[in-house]
Amino acid sequence: MSIKTGILNGVATIEIARPEKKNALTVAMYVAMADALAVACEDTSVRAVLITGQPGVFTSGNDIEDFMARPPGQGSEGLDSPVFRFMKALLACDKPVVAAVTGAAVGIGTTLLLHCDLVYVADDARLAMPFVSLGLVPEFGSSLLVPQLMGHRRAAEKLLLGDPFTAEQAVECGIANAVLPAGEVLNHARRVAERFNALPPGAVREAKQLMRAPQREQIEATIRTEGALFATRLRSPEATEAFQAFFQKRRPDFSKF
Ligand code: COA
Repeated sequence: MSIKTGILNGVATIEIARPEKKNALTVAMYVAMADALAVACEDTSVRAVLITGQPGVFTSGNDIEDFMARPPGQGSEGLDSPVFRFMKALLACDKPVVAAVTGAAVGIGTTLLLHCDLVYVADDARLAMPFVSLGLVPEFGSSLLVPQLMGHRRAAEKLLLGDPFTAEQAVECGIANAVLPAGEVLNHARRVAERFNALPPGAVREAKQLMRAPQREQIEATIRTEGALFATRLRSPEATEAFQAFFQKRRPDFSKF
């Protein structure tokens, strides 16, 4: 199991721990994270959730081998897939979710940050959403939320060109709250999460729901549209070429498409 969970001082921590594969997320890991979020939401002693990775890597995104061997199903079947279960649990979580990011946060590693409430990034953080480069499309509301956060032009750099961006840029464009030294980011995020122990949980919950409510339906509709396209694209010749190129450690060749 590559997800470590624990509850301490009112904070439920979900730690992605698969450093040998740069914390790439497998189907089993999504299941574990979805279950951990469900427990955190039920447990009244939990006042906040903290999501973190390993020193030097938050997550390299979906496991590309899994993408090839066990892609989320097409149609309604895909909406029950582990990755959807996890993201649905994250969107539905009515307790504050804090993220501490060091190193690479690729693909869903950046997408999931869009659905956290407070995000702290280390000075070594490198975020990227290279879906198009992989023959895919943006996912889980990012095609709506990223242009909204930073405008179409800057979103196009990140979503169409797949350009990586730094911790400072993540703060500047509104994806993260603050940049901290790599050795301090986790403790800082934990201290912020623990601040919710001193706040009234009912008011926090209702305030979070109010902040999310105006866009909830639009985000959910976007996620369904993105999900259908994503599932189809996972099976496309463009994506197959990109995945094979990754494992063969070469540049993909899209000239034939
Ligand atoms: N899925 C499956 N395996 C992955 C992976 C992923 N998303 N990311 C990294 N790995 C594996 C590599 O294949 C390698 O395995 P090996 O040691 O058996 O060869 C190992 O993890 C180390 O990765 P490596 O690429 O050598 O590390 P790096 O420090 O040079 O680069 C990253 C780190 C995160 C920049 C790079 O691994 C990367 O770009 N990964 C893919 C990101 C991606 O496209 N994710 C999907 C988004 S939808």
